Amino acid sequence: MAISYKSLGFVNTKNMFAKAVSGGFAVPAYNFNNMEQLQAIVLACLESQSPVILQVSKGARDYADQTLLTYLGQGAIEMMRRKAREMGVGEIPIALHLDHGDSYETCVSCIESGFSSVMIDGSHLSYEENIALTKKVVEYAHAHDVTVEGELGVLAGVEDEVSAEHHTYTQPEEVQDFVSRTGVDSLAISIGTSHGAFKFKPGQKPEIRLDILREIEKRIPGFAIVLHGSSSVPQDAVEAINKYGGKLADSIGIPETQLREAAKSAVCKINIDSDGRLVMTAKIREVLANKPGEFDPRKYLGPARDALKVMYKAKNENVLGSAGHAPEIVAASK
Ligand code: G3H
Ligand code: 13P
Ligand code: ZN
Repeated sequence: MAISYKSLGFVNTKNMFAKAVSGGFAVPAYNFNNMEQLQAIVLACLESQSPVILQVSKGARDYADQTLLTYLGQGAIEMMRRKAREMGVGEIPIALHLDHGDSYETCVSCIESGFSSVMIDGSHLSYEENIALTKKVVEYAHAHDVTVEGELGVLAGVEDEVSAEHHTYTQPEEVQDFVSRTGVDSLAISIGTSHGAFKFKPGQKPEIRLDILREIEKRIPGFAIVLHGSSSVPQDAVEAINKYGGKLADSIGIPETQLREAAKSAVCKINIDSDGRLVMTAKIREVLANKPGEFDPRKYLGPARDALKVMYKAKNENVLGSAGHAPEIVAASK
C-alpha cells in the first residue's frame, strides 16, 4: 500500500526553494546510508535551525534497503520533534529525496514509499529523451504533490555506477525550453563541480563557472537551481585518514567561498556526500588507531557521528547560509 510523505511528516521542496531564492541561501542536501549519518544531519540542522533535504541514492537503497531508509527517515522526524521540545526550539522542515533517480519506475516506487521529492536524472540521454522521461515523472509526482528535480548537462566524476571523464557544461540556451516543457520544480546544472572526493589535483585551480550560472539565471529568473558534486574535501580529514593508516590521493574540492557565492544566487540546493564520508572515516580511523583493542561499534561510530554533526553545522552556518531559515519555511508550509 502506498504511503503519503505527508503522513510521515516530511515536506516537499516547494516552500524551501521559494524562501531560498528570496533569502539568498541554499538548502543543504546531505546523503545518508545509516542511522549515525542521519542523526548527525538532523541534529545539526535542528541546532542550526536549518531546513534540510535528506538524500537517498540508488547505492544507499541497495545498501540499506529503501523501506528501511524510509522508516529511518520517519524515525528521524520523531526524534527531531522530541529534541526540539527538549531544546525549546522550533521544528525544522525535512524533505526525503531520491538522489539521481535512474528511471520512471524508481521514482514511482520512492513516491509510493513516502519520498517527498525525487530527482530524475536523464542527463545521460539525448535532449528530447531527457525531456520525455522527466515530463513523465513530473506528471506522476505532481499528482501526489511531490516535487521533481531534473538535470541538464553532465558532471565529471562517478555517480552511482555511471562515470564521465569530462564535464559537459549546461547550455544556457536550453534551460528555459527544458523547464517549461518538463514542468520540473528545480534544475541541476553542470558548471564545473564533480562527484566524489577527487575533483581537482593539487596545483590545479579549482573554479566553478559562475559565469554560466549567471547566464542560466538570466534565462529563468527566480527558478531553483541545484548544484551536485559540491563537497569541499576537508584537508584535515584527508590528512587524518592518511595519518591513521589510510591511503588517499591528494585532492582538492570545491572552495567553500565559491559555494557561498553560488548559494547567494539562484542556487537553492547544494548536494554534499563525500565530505561526510571523509570526516566519518577520518574519525573512525583515528579512534581505532589510538585504541586498537576497541571493538564496540558505538565507541567509534559515536565520535564519528559527533564529528559529522560539527561539520554539517559549519556548512549550514558558513557555506549554505541556511542556518536560522527553518522557522519561515515551517510557517509557509502551514
Ligand atoms: O551522486 C552520488 C552520491 O554521492 C551518492 O553516491 O551512489 O555511492 O551512494 P552513492
Ligand atoms: P559530492 O561527491 O561532491 O559530495 O557530491 C554529492 C552529490 O552530488 C550527490 O548527489
Ligand atoms: Zn549528485
